[in-house]
Amino acid sequence: MRKCKMAVIGFGQRGYGYVQMIMAHPAAELTAVCESSPDRAESFARELGLKNVPLFRSVDELIAKGDFEAVVITLPDYLHCESAIACCNAGKHIMLEKPMAPTAEECRRIIRAIVRNDCKVQIGFVLRHHPMFRRVIRIARSGELGQILNITSSEHIGVMHGASYMRRWHRRIANSGGFVLAKCSHDIDIISTVADAPAVRVASFGSLDFFTPDKLKHPYCSQCPDEACRFRFKGEMVRMTEREKNAPSQTERPFDLCVYNDDKDVVDHQVAIIDFANGIKADFTLNLFAQVPKRTICVAGTEAILYADTADEFITVHNSVTGKTRKIDCKAENTSGHGGSDGTFLNDFIDCVLNDRPFGVDFRAGLSSTVIGNAIEEARLTDKVVEIPPDAYCW
Ligand SMILES: NC(=O)c1ccc[n+]([C@@H]2O[C@H](COP(=O)([O-])OP(=O)(O)OC[C@H]3O[C@@H](n4cnc5c(N)ncnc54)[C@H](O)[C@@H]3O)[C@@H](O)[C@H]2O)c1
Repeated sequence: MRKCKMAVIGFGQRGYGYVQMIMAHPAAELTAVCESSPDRAESFARELGLKNVPLFRSVDELIAKGDFEAVVITLPDYLHCESAIACCNAGKHIMLEKPMAPTAEECRRIIRAIVRNDCKVQIGFVLRHHPMFRRVIRIARSGELGQILNITSSEHIGVMHGASYMRRWHRRIANSGGFVLAKCSHDIDIISTVADAPAVRVASFGSLDFFTPDKLKHPYCSQCPDEACRFRFKGEMVRMTEREKNAPSQTERPFDLCVYNDDKDVVDHQVAIIDFANGIKADFTLNLFAQVPKRTICVAGTEAILYADTADEFITVHNSVTGKTRKIDCKAENTSGHGGSDGTFLNDFIDCVLNDRPFGVDFRAGLSSTVIGNAIEEARLTDKVVEIPPDAYCW
C-alpha cells in the first residue's frame, strides 16, 4: 500500500499530538518535522522516538529540503497565512489548523494560493467528525425538524483550559482574531453548517470581568506565594521540554504568566447572535469556568427540536407533530481527542490525499468561519450590529 508522506509544522501542544497520530497511522509516513525551537524539536523527537525523521528549523528550509506530499500546519494562528501560502506554492496538500487565519483577508490570500497552485487544503474543524455533531448535521439536513428557525449553542471551557487562553499567545487579539475565533471557530463552523446559509449580520457582547489585572499578585506563578490559587500553573495545556520547565530565566519559561496579567486584550465571557440569509437566527455563549467542559447545541424547527450535549454523549429529538421523543447514542468511536474526531479527521485527510478525493472541510468553511468571527469581534468592540456583505465570502 502506498503511504502518504507527511510533514508537521509546529511541534507544540497540537503538533505533538499530530506527530503521534501520524507515526501510528498505517497509511502515513512521517518524513519531516519543522519547529523553530531546536530544544523543542530535539526533546520531543527524543520523547516520541522519532528516528531518521529530519527536523527543520523554518518553513523555507522544510520546503527546500523536505520529502513530503502533505503537511499538517499546527503553528500559532498568526503564522498560518504565510506558511500555508508557502506550502501551496510548493504544491503540497495541507491540513491547516483552525482558525484558517485571524483575518478574512489572510484567508483570501491563502485561497488564492490554493486555486493558483491547484492544491488541497483541509481546515482543522475536527468537530465535523465528532460523533454527536456529525449526527446533528445529518438530522438538521434530513428535514426531520421541519423548517429550522433557531440554533442555540454554547461552549463551556474547563477552568485550566480557559485560564491558558489568558496566559498563552492567544491572549492577544492580534495573534488570533479574538477569543471566539481562536477557540470557538469550531462552533461557528458547526452553527453555519447546520444553518446551511451565509451569515448576513451579527451582534455580540463580551468583556473581561473576572481575569482583571487588578487582581494581579505577581507576574508569574513561580514567583507567587499563593499556593491555593485555583489558576496556579501546573503545566496545563502547554507541551514543555525539561529545559523549559527548569529554565532559570523567566523569559525562557513564559508559560506561567499570571492569569490576571495586563498584557492581554481578550474577553473571559461573550455572547454572539448571528442572522443567516435563510432567516435562521443563532446564538452562541462562551464561558471559561466549567467543572464539566462541554459544548451544547439546540436546533429548533417547526416540527421538532433537537438537544445535544457533548458531556451527555447523546442527542434528544422531541417531535411536536408525532409527540414522540427519540434518543440517539453518540459515544466516541475511538480514544483520540475531541470525542474521537481527531483520529477520523486525520484518516479522512490521508484518504483524500492518497485517493485524490476533495476534502470534506475545505477552505470555504475556513473563510466563512473567519468572516463571521471577525464580524463578531467587530460587533463586540464597536457595540454595533455588523452587516456581512455577500462579497465577504468571495476571494
Ligand atoms: N483543532 C483543534 O481543536 C485545535 C486544538 C488545539 C490547537 N489548535 C490549533 O493548533 C495551532 C497550534 O496551537 P498550539 O496550542 O499547538 O500552539 P503551541 O504554541 O503549543 O505550538 C506552536 C509551535 O510552533 C512553533 N513555532 C512558532 N513559530 C514557528 C515557526 N516560524 N516555524 C516553525 N515552528 C514555529 C512553536 O515553537 C511551538 O512549538 C493553533 O492554530 C491552534 O488554534 C487546534
